[in-house]
Amino acid sequence: MKRARKAMGGRLYTAERRVQEANSQSDPTSCLTAEQRVFTTSKDREITLECFRVGTLREREPHIIEWMFTLVERNMKEHYEACSWGWNGKAKYNEMTEPDAWYLIAKDYANSSLAGFCHFRFVVDYGVEVVYCYELQVEALYRSEQIGRRVMAALEALSLQWKMKKVVLTVLRLNQRAINFYMDCGYTYDETSPAREEPEPHYIFSKPTFG
Ligand SMILES: CC(C)(COP(=O)(O)OP(=O)(O)OC[C@H]1O[C@@H](n2cnc3c(N)ncnc32)[C@H](O)[C@@H]1OP(=O)(O)O)[C@@H](O)C(=O)NCCC(=O)NCCS
Repeated sequence: MKRARKAMGGRLYTAERRVQEANSQSDPTSCLTAEQRVFTTSKDREITLECFRVGTLREREPHIIEWMFTLVERNMKEHYEACSWGWNGKAKYNEMTEPDAWYLIAKDYANSSLAGFCHFRFVVDYGVEVVYCYELQVEALYRSEQIGRRVMAALEALSLQWKMKKVVLTVLRLNQRAINFYMDCGYTYDETSPAREEPEPHYIFSKPTFG
């Protein structure tokens, strides 16, 4: 019993240490290959992926934070309003600007247009170290060009690099397009997900990465 408790403590210690190490990097995406950072879409657009801590965006590129928030509002407000969670813009903005937030920004290289973004965090979730994908949003103009898939692949590479057990995300049950997309990317119901017969408006999906 004592030994089991000690082992549990050791596991949690490892999980926290790994999360701390990933979060202490100035750029946790330095492990990505050139092909993962810059790629050509199915419509022949060159897209670059750049990583920022939210604090850096606030200081240097506050317009990107405003764009991200309006994109979430445009893409998601209706979905939130259609389920029991409702839409709370202030709470969403606060969540997006919490200090632990990291961002991957997808830009169209030709004209510097902002094409999409991912808000992710390294966290201990139910005692396990994970990359938590808080948000994945692509501008309507840039959808179905595999940008979302490339971003998820980059997250999975980061998860592996920093020895996180899995990439985890929350998806609304009524967002069938996103459910199809994540399943296409190899994600499935996480053990912590509310079951189909439960009344919650969301599922938790995940994909194992390390160990
Ligand atoms: C979900 C989302 C991030 C996917 O990004 P994307 O860059 O369009 O994704 P990809 O091009 O890599 O893959 C698209 C795949 O998603 C699925 N998909 C896309 N549109 C779909 C649709 N209308 N119906 C069913 N599946 C669809 C398909 O598997 C599709 O592949 P295909 O376009 O080749 O048929 C993007 O559609 C989006 O931003 N949606 C609005 C915001 C959102 O719902 N975010 C997820 C919150 S959890």
